[in-house]
Amino acid sequence: MLQEKIQQYSEEIAQFAAKSHKDTEAFRLRFLVAKGIVRNLFDEFKSVSPEEKRTLGKALNELKQAAEEKYKTLQEQYPPTAQRSTQETTDLTLPGEGFIFGSRHPLSLVRKEIVEIFKKLGFTVADGPEIEDDWHNFTALNFPPEHPARDMQDTFFIKKQDGNDIALRTHTSSVQVRMMESGKPPFRAIMPGRVYRNEAISARAHCFFHQVEGLYVDENVSFADLKQTLYYFVQELFGEGTKVRFRPSYFPFTEPSAEMDISCTICKGHGCNMCKRTGWVEILGCGMVDPNVLENCGIDSGRYSGFAFGMGIERITNLKYEIKDLRLFSENDVRFLSQFESELI
Ligand code: PHE
Repeated sequence: MLQEKIQQYSEEIAQFAAKSHKDTEAFRLRFLVAKGIVRNLFDEFKSVSPEEKRTLGKALNELKQAAEEKYKTLQEQYPPTAQRSTQETTDLTLPGEGFIFGSRHPLSLVRKEIVEIFKKLGFTVADGPEIEDDWHNFTALNFPPEHPARDMQDTFFIKKQDGNDIALRTHTSSVQVRMMESGKPPFRAIMPGRVYRNEAISARAHCFFHQVEGLYVDENVSFADLKQTLYYFVQELFGEGTKVRFRPSYFPFTEPSAEMDISCTICKGHGCNMCKRTGWVEILGCGMVDPNVLENCGIDSGRYSGFAFGMGIERITNLKYEIKDLRLFSENDVRFLSQFESELI
């Protein structure tokens, strides 16, 4: 009977004595939790007759109150925190654990440095697709139909049935074509990006790498502008006093063309393994944009002239950090990557 139970538990509550926080907790678990005695009695109360409800309701409420008050007094007697603080050994004066930040990839660091230098000279940054067609990667750039660079040895391409073959771009010069086709001179931009060539992977070659190419087209642009721009770039990137020399070269899309060497940054020109004991290392190709290329892109070559240059970011990074094996750049080995600086932004 409910009435007897109330009576019995009221006595138990009144007589309950605790010796520790553990007993207090046992009391709470017996009487006050969701499946405890007080709650069960209230559930039973729902099914008693209406006449009984009046008297029993009052008694039940008093029991509940008594249990809560008892628990309060017991808690005061044996506060849980007081007991815990003697057992725990947390030293709040210890410094917190820091966050581990990832590091920037060395190629990203160097690309950023290159981009910043050209930005100071007023160059914007242009982007284009990595999957290209023959026109943008070769034909518009004045590659003769049988030029060896179109050979399957160098270019990853897919022969399509409709004859419009597609290829992974072999250089970011394709972005220069897209830029000239879709705008009006003057153009002054650099094109950083990933490029692909069908080469066996080794310490010195990879099937993809990264380039920054540049283009400046306006009225009266001369080879002197090209030299001065690149000279400024080298002093900024490798430090003042770095020497520069130009050697005649050939590219289908520039005339005249040159390759640019800098004095070896590692041995300062005295001769070492990096420069094959010559004191010089090649860092980029450049030249005056061939008038055929300007015309292919709808630009009046009688009025406008321009220069272009292109460099491999891996090459520059090798020189800056003396990384001998190109494969390290794409293996994602954290022992390698964590040696480079991290940035919070
Ligand atoms: N496109 C050339 C390459 O990939 C580099 C280059 C760009 C040379 C512009 C001259 C002028 O090797």
